[in-house]
Order: sequence, then structure tokens, then C-alpha cells
Amino acid sequence: MELVFPEPHGPAGSPYRKVESGRLNPSCVPERPTLIQVRDLRKEYSTGRGRLVLFDRLSFEVAEGELLAIVGESGAGKSTLLHILGALDTPSAGDVYCASIQLRMLSARQAASFRNREVGYVWQFHYLLPEFTAAENVAIPLLARGESRAAALKRAGEWLNEVELADRADHRAGELSGGEQQRVSLARALVTGPKVLLADEPTGDLDSRTAGVVFDLIERLHESHGLTSVIVTHNMTLADRCSRILRLEKGAMEEVSPQRM
Ligand SMILES: Nc1ncnc2c1ncn2[C@@H]1O[C@H](COP(=O)(O)OP(=O)(O)OP(=O)(O)O)[C@@H](O)[C@H]1O
Ligand SMILES: [Mg+2]
Repeated sequence: MELVFPEPHGPAGSPYRKVESGRLNPSCVPERPTLIQVRDLRKEYSTGRGRLVLFDRLSFEVAEGELLAIVGESGAGKSTLLHILGALDTPSAGDVYCASIQLRMLSARQAASFRNREVGYVWQFHYLLPEFTAAENVAIPLLARGESRAAALKRAGEWLNEVELADRADHRAGELSGGEQQRVSLARALVTGPKVLLADEPTGDLDSRTAGVVFDLIERLHESHGLTSVIVTHNMTLADRCSRILRLEKGAMEEVSPQRM
């Protein structure tokens, strides 16, 4: 079967330039303990045209406390990679270690527990349940792990306070603004106390001012809760605020810095 890489279908020309050689040289890796290790990762799909290889022998590390941006053209495989990091998808080959847990070795039940305890997810679209209140939405991951409704709602209230939405706790999620909904989804992602925040274009559906507000909040929560965060974004201004930017392109990862105008 022929091996093909996905054709990027984003806007022509990349706003990012390579850092020196573009390779992930050791000097780029921060001197903090590694929390996420990606080793020789491969993901492929069988399609009518042959085998679609999104990435192959992909290796990189994320240090504890890093706020890492992943950029790349549409179709490069960023969401797929994020799903693999969060044990929502499995690679075709290679390994991901998160907090020394080898994800490939987890049973379905262990993977579910890993997703509930170790990782918080935020998506471009908030996926809140519109008929439920903000507090009930935030409480869901705690209810899923068997906490009582009273305890879960109490903690949800504390988290809504963290995202400055205490006064919206009893509002239906469907009645909140886009920015408020994304703040609720951040509270839902973090209510279980994960070490890692994975966010896939968390501001992609917001206007630029609201995107800035939500990113400010991500930055503040990242710092105050000692998170390790991986943010997929197309927004160069926001990527520039991260501690490191990796670009996924044609199946390989390289470190880049934003081109300043
Ligand atoms: N189940 C699947 N079977 C075949 N191809 C798939 C499957 N899932 C994803 N793909 C393909 O893999 C490629 C990468 O998809 P992915 O969603 O990871 O890209 P992305 O970098 O997140 O893009 P975007 O920036 O548009 O969100 C796409 O070309 C997509 O069509
Ligand atoms: Mg995507």
C-alpha cells in the first residue's frame, strides 16, 4: 500500500518560522521534570487512496508546568495527537507516558479512570448540556466518579467562582454567552484536579476580545494550579504567549517561534 501524508488544506503560507535547525534540539527542552513523553508515535488510517500516515516516529517531551502550544495547518493531525495524549484514541505504534503511566498498557477501565483523574479537556465547542445548569455541568465529572450530588455541586460552585461565574451557577448552560460557556467548560475540565490540561482550539469559536479573556483565564489557572497544559491553536497571538510552540507538519514536529510583524 502506498504511504501518503495528508495534504494541508489551511491558508497558504505559514505564519511561523523554524527555530534554528527546526529540530527539537536538547537545548529547547526546559530543565524541569518531564511529565509527558511521546516516543516514536505513529498514527495511520486506511483510506481508499492508500494508507494515510498522519505522523510517524514522532517523539517529544512536555515538562511539568509547561504551557505548550501546538500549531499546524488544518488536517495536520493536531486533534488526533491531542486525543492520543489524553487516552481518547490509540496510536498505531509508539508510546505515550503521562506522569509515568504508559497509556498503551491501560485497560479500558483504567483508561477511563486516567481520563477522569489525570487530564482535563477543553474543546473548541464547549459540549455543555444546554438544559442543565452551569453548576450541574461542572459537577458531571465528579458524579461520574461516584461523588454525592451535594459534594459535587459544592465543588462545582467553588470552580465556577474560580472562573468568575459564581453568579451564573444556576443559569442553564444554553442561556450563557459563548465566552461564559467556555469558562464553564474550563471549570468542568479542572474540577477533578487533573495535572494536565489538554485544550483543542479553546478560543476558536470566540471573537478576538473574548478569546483573549478566555486565554487570560487559562494562563491564570495554569499558573495557580501548577498545571501542565497543551493547547492546540490557530491563533498566533495566543500561541506566542505560551512557553513553547511546536508545529506539526507533514508528520513531523518542529519547534517554531511566531513571526513578529
Ligand atoms: N477515522 C479517520 N479515518 C480516516 N481519516 C481520518 C480519521 N480521523 C481523522 N482523519 C484524517 O486525519 C487528518 C488529521 O485530522 P485532525 O482532525 O487530527 O487534524 P487537525 O490538525 O486537528 O485539523 P484542524 O486544524 O482542521 O482541526 C485529516 O485529514 C482527517 O481527515
Ligand atoms: Mg483539529
